[in-house]
Amino acid sequence: MAVRLATVRTATRPQVAARTSSSPWWRSAVVYQVYLRSFADGNGDGIGDLAGLRSRLPYLAWLGVDAVWINPHYPSGGADGGYDIVDYRAVDPEYGDVADLEALVAEARALGLRIVLDVVPNHTSDRHPWFQAALADPDSPEAARYHFAPPSEEPPNNWQSLFGGPAWSRTPDGRWYLHLFAPEQPDLNWRDPAVAADFERTLRFWLDRGVSGFRVDVAYGLFKDAGLRNNPGAYSPTLFGHGPEQAMTWNQPEVHDVWRQWRSICDEYPGTMLVGEVCLADPREVALYSRPDEMHQSFSFRLLKSPWSVESFADGVRSALDAFGAVGAPVSWVLGNHDKDRQVTRFGGGAVGTARARAAALLMLALPGSAYVYAGDELGLPQAVVPDEAKRDPIFFRSGGARPGRDGCRVPMPWNPSPGVGFSTRPAEPWLPVPDGWDRYAVSRQSRDGGSMLILYRRALALREAHPALGSGEATVSTRGDVLTVRCTAADGSAVRCVVNMGSETSLVRSRGTVLLASNTSVRRSSATVALPPHTAIWLAEG
Ligand code: GLC
Repeated sequence: MAVRLATVRTATRPQVAARTSSSPWWRSAVVYQVYLRSFADGNGDGIGDLAGLRSRLPYLAWLGVDAVWINPHYPSGGADGGYDIVDYRAVDPEYGDVADLEALVAEARALGLRIVLDVVPNHTSDRHPWFQAALADPDSPEAARYHFAPPSEEPPNNWQSLFGGPAWSRTPDGRWYLHLFAPEQPDLNWRDPAVAADFERTLRFWLDRGVSGFRVDVAYGLFKDAGLRNNPGAYSPTLFGHGPEQAMTWNQPEVHDVWRQWRSICDEYPGTMLVGEVCLADPREVALYSRPDEMHQSFSFRLLKSPWSVESFADGVRSALDAFGAVGAPVSWVLGNHDKDRQVTRFGGGAVGTARARAAALLMLALPGSAYVYAGDELGLPQAVVPDEAKRDPIFFRSGGARPGRDGCRVPMPWNPSPGVGFSTRPAEPWLPVPDGWDRYAVSRQSRDGGSMLILYRRALALREAHPALGSGEATVSTRGDVLTVRCTAADGSAVRCVVNMGSETSLVRSRGTVLLASNTSVRRSSATVALPPHTAIWLAEG
């Protein structure tokens, strides 16, 4: 560990600066997502916190990312990993306080890193003072800020919670209230102007403390059909996102005015940005959330949800480039996050899953746009097996155990091979169990191993920073059999091809270019061809 820290501390990075002077930083940024509870525990209570994250900022600078998005840090009811917020302008004491957050922003900035927060405008916690006041008095102004319906036998409509079961629950006095997620997450009524006004205060509160923007939770929600009419079809968690079958619940036209207003607030704070979580099936609908006067970005989740197949990946890349290109926004690529199984497992597990995750990383990091890297994906963590009795995710409980839930991608980050994998500053029971053998993925081990996933990421990020055709410019997609090629061209005409062999046979790739990086160390080249093993990607600089 000492060796790694020494290396990290001496690494120098430029101060916060755009890739090119004319292009805003977020257009091609690599943003590292920190699940705060699981990243690093600075006070030894088994729960990750701001002090822990501050102590690991040098690691993130060494890795070479541009910004850090932290999952919700607010006081919360604890029903959904912090996405049930009780106070939007405070820090949960488990994580520290506002002064810690300010220190985080300052220390990050000194290392060339920006801090992006998570904001959750679709719903609050049921413990939020507004909801408590609404429960106490149906005629209170606070009651108008949620969706209540009078007592009756049946819920007001057929809407379903994304976590399982109906989207309506009863209050102790028999009223119904709407929650598109857990019952502890009542949905806000955005048709009440007090709601918008309060969120504007929240945005300014954090922007005044120097944060560089927000990841906006459930940005395709907020407004519901004004008549709360039945949805035409059922929700399916297996789809790419919501479509016409859920037309009454999501993607109401009014929501775009919220993003226009939030954009105008961000415009008062130069260099800040909004990135929206928009889970809609049609990429063109997703891209509309990042029109020039709305959010700066909306996540493209196609690769996050694609199986390992050339058709699915090619379609995911092409459709996103087309949709976002049409509105002049960069694509925000995502391969992993706190809601989805880890890539290594998703792509088949074991050696094959790892090889595919390495190849997918090179593909994502070549593509023009911003890229979001979920903490631990750079270590090749597989989905952890969390025993049922240790699980926390409401999806597991609300589905009666039918859906495994998301805890397996939220276990503590392994920093070194000690028994607690270096997660806590002193021996402590971690909030989710550390899987057996987790030490093999530890940062301190991988940082000394030239063939590790961590070093692959670090090399890729350094090349992306240096080469104008990586992460920005234009891209074209082509396929030949199981081989996917994305040709990325910079404004200066230089080009890099990312070639991914998604099949199970070695493929010969014709090229006179230079191999900048390969996801597999056994890539061989002769003068005019490269032999690309299965589940492998390369970056070839043309010329
Ligand atoms: C988003 C978050 C997820 C959370 C949900 C409800 O989808 O990514 O973790 O459970 O919103 O806030």
